[in-house]
Amino acid sequence: MFITFEGGEGTGKTTIIKTISRRIEELGHKVITTREPGGSIVAEQIRNVILDPNNDSIKAHTEALLYAASRAQHIDEVIKPALEDERIVLCDRYLDSSLAYQGYARGLGYDYVLKVNDYATKFLPDLTFYIDLDPQIGLDRIVNRVQKDRLDLEEVSFHQLVRKGYLDLVNMYPKRIIVLDGTQTIEEIITIVLNKISEIL
Ligand code: TYD
Repeated sequence: MFITFEGGEGTGKTTIIKTISRRIEELGHKVITTREPGGSIVAEQIRNVILDPNNDSIKAHTEALLYAASRAQHIDEVIKPALEDERIVLCDRYLDSSLAYQGYARGLGYDYVLKVNDYATKFLPDLTFYIDLDPQIGLDRIVNRVQKDRLDLEEVSFHQLVRKGYLDLVNMYPKRIIVLDGTQTIEEIITIVLNKISEIL
């Protein structure tokens, strides 16, 4: 089973995924956690290029292609082998991030992003949890984060577009994407996610 977690900045995804992974493992399942952009050595190197705040000249198309390239490497090196090994894959961000950030917020369009991510669409998640939160609340939560990446530093108006993009995706993929209210506590979110996964398992 391939499960992805999506949302804007400061939604607590990373902490949530760590706990979920531990709990699923305790139930006796084989799990791996991974993330995008990154998740493998080459993909992490591409991540560094994309997220480096000094690379402020990166164009929208270049950005979309770099995310897609890092994803292709990640699929072949990590996701595909793990699924073949019957592991549950928990991934922090995936294709929906490209659709919301590059497709909607950067204005490249969903069709374009789907086209350059043709390979990833052969490995669509079985289930996606989207943690929905007002971007201002999310950004306030990460205000003290020492290392802000190039995307964290975008204006709040950009992050509001990202949220609109995600809400479009929820309408486009209603069976795959489950919306979670990001104002709930992390514990409440974890309980809902675990119940849903247990139901399916
Ligand atoms: P990361 O620090 O992993 O995000 P977070 O901690 O917020 O989950 O940084 C990844 C950034 O890259 C994040 O701002 C979202 C963005 N992103 C895209 O724009 N497109 C993509 O396809 C992916 C995977 C991420």
